[in-house]
Amino acid sequence: MKKFWRFLFRKSLPADSLSRLDCAVLGLGDSSYPKFNFVAKKLHKRLLQLGANMLLPVGLADDQHDLGPDGVIDPWLLSFWQKTLSLYPPPAGLAPLREEDKLPPRYIFHFLSEVPNKPTEHLQTVDNKSSPTSLRPFPAPLVFNQRVTHTAHFQDVRHIEFDITGSNIEFSAGDIVMMRPCNTAEDVEQLCQLLKLDPESYFTLTPTDSSTEVPARLPQPCSVRFLLEHFLDISAVPRRSFFELLATFATDELEQEKLLEFSSAAGQDALHSYCNRPRRTALEVLTDFPHTTAELSIDCLLDLFPEIQPRSFSIASSLLEHPNRIQILLAVVKYKTMLVKPRKGLCSSWLASLDPSKGDVYVPLWVKKGSLKFPQEPESPVIMVGPGTGVAPFRSAIQERVAQGKMANVLFFGCRSESKDFYCGSEWQEKVQAGQMILVTAFSRDQEDKVYVQHRVKEQGKLLWNLIAKKNAFFYIAGNAKHMPTSVCDALKAVFQKEGGMSENQAQEMLDGMEKNGRFQSETWS
Ligand code: 2AM
Repeated sequence: MKKFWRFLFRKSLPADSLSRLDCAVLGLGDSSYPKFNFVAKKLHKRLLQLGANMLLPVGLADDQHDLGPDGVIDPWLLSFWQKTLSLYPPPAGLAPLREEDKLPPRYIFHFLSEVPNKPTEHLQTVDNKSSPTSLRPFPAPLVFNQRVTHTAHFQDVRHIEFDITGSNIEFSAGDIVMMRPCNTAEDVEQLCQLLKLDPESYFTLTPTDSSTEVPARLPQPCSVRFLLEHFLDISAVPRRSFFELLATFATDELEQEKLLEFSSAAGQDALHSYCNRPRRTALEVLTDFPHTTAELSIDCLLDLFPEIQPRSFSIASSLLEHPNRIQILLAVVKYKTMLVKPRKGLCSSWLASLDPSKGDVYVPLWVKKGSLKFPQEPESPVIMVGPGTGVAPFRSAIQERVAQGKMANVLFFGCRSESKDFYCGSEWQEKVQAGQMILVTAFSRDQEDKVYVQHRVKEQGKLLWNLIAKKNAFFYIAGNAKHMPTSVCDALKAVFQKEGGMSENQAQEMLDGMEKNGRFQSETWS
């Protein structure tokens, strides 16, 4: 992709380079981000500039659309195929696939009559040269798992620690640890029963198409248990393609009708109400369509369920303070919808359930460079705004910087209540006492009116202006509250205006300038 992009944006490309190319651009984006579908727009513009014949206006699919990205993708694709098929009609005798055409599965399962003598699935060990990767994660013992919010607090946040001795893992502040959760034993059991599968049976896979490969993460032979526990994402909210495939197996009229509705463009509202809004899982959907589920061919399992995706967590510790350790702050995801059973985050619930006092527990993990970068220059002050678990990368940064003798650290931390979710509070106090950092807290619910980090940023205007304008400070935001980053930016601009005597435009320009040269960085998630 990088190669393609660099090639396409070379200045030396003549303006008519692509004059013989028919093409169209569909971007997948999320309008809650400031640069919504930036890449698609830029690509479309560049292709036009190079003389390409754009078949359609650029499609801007949006995660925030009422119907999800499909709300834009469906009509866009329809026009795309109409246009394409009129320009390039299929050769005589061939016709485009219709919705009801069944594609062959990507893989065929061959069950073994016996269990192999040598187990094929074991925790991989790393060699002593390279660092762990997604395909060769390091099985790290989980050595500490403690709730850090009061039991009366609505949210369970965990402080979790992994031992990475001997892993060759190196990281610095701002980096990310990656891990793949596994499905619960209960879900695996239920799916086995629904599909009449023996979890202890073994199989090998052969692709039905020469361009398809067996997924590298699946051992061969593989047990049904491994496939269901570690590979197939059975507890995610299924996509429309799940219903499309399911519909091809339906023989029961009522079930078929419903599945075809959910598969159709017109049925997307109904699908949203049935599945996305209540966060119904794929496994729950199967139980709602028992006749169809009974007809399912095992061969289609890898087409039906996507692979479990790795989850990323900001590392909350530094190797300089905690050698051979990775610590994270984990918010356990659990909420109610109209469904009776509470919804639970797969990865956070799984991690929270691991109890090192009951024996060894290993979590396969690897690390990735994060987007937050902290200054090397010892004299540059660092201002960090991290409410809730957004504080994780800053805990790592403060530990790292203090160990390096960099004491100009200012942390804005926000939580609901000093007594309920002020995690790491005593750690911060120790560092404050030692003159290693300044802490500014915003306890949103300890008084009548809400107090948020952005209010504190405004209150601390003089300090911040002095650090930013006179001492070249770096400013960071991390967290998951939807509107928090914008409000903090607004507060910062208000500080520039008040303390620096700037106009609104000048304040914006100053912030843009800081962003450009890396002095303003944010990492937000939802
Ligand atoms: P609240 O839940 O009382 O609204 C960590 O989650 C902290 O971030 C909590 O104190 C939470 O407050 C606060 N928070 C929620 N929305 C916010 C926003 N838009 N801006 C800043 N902080 C926010």
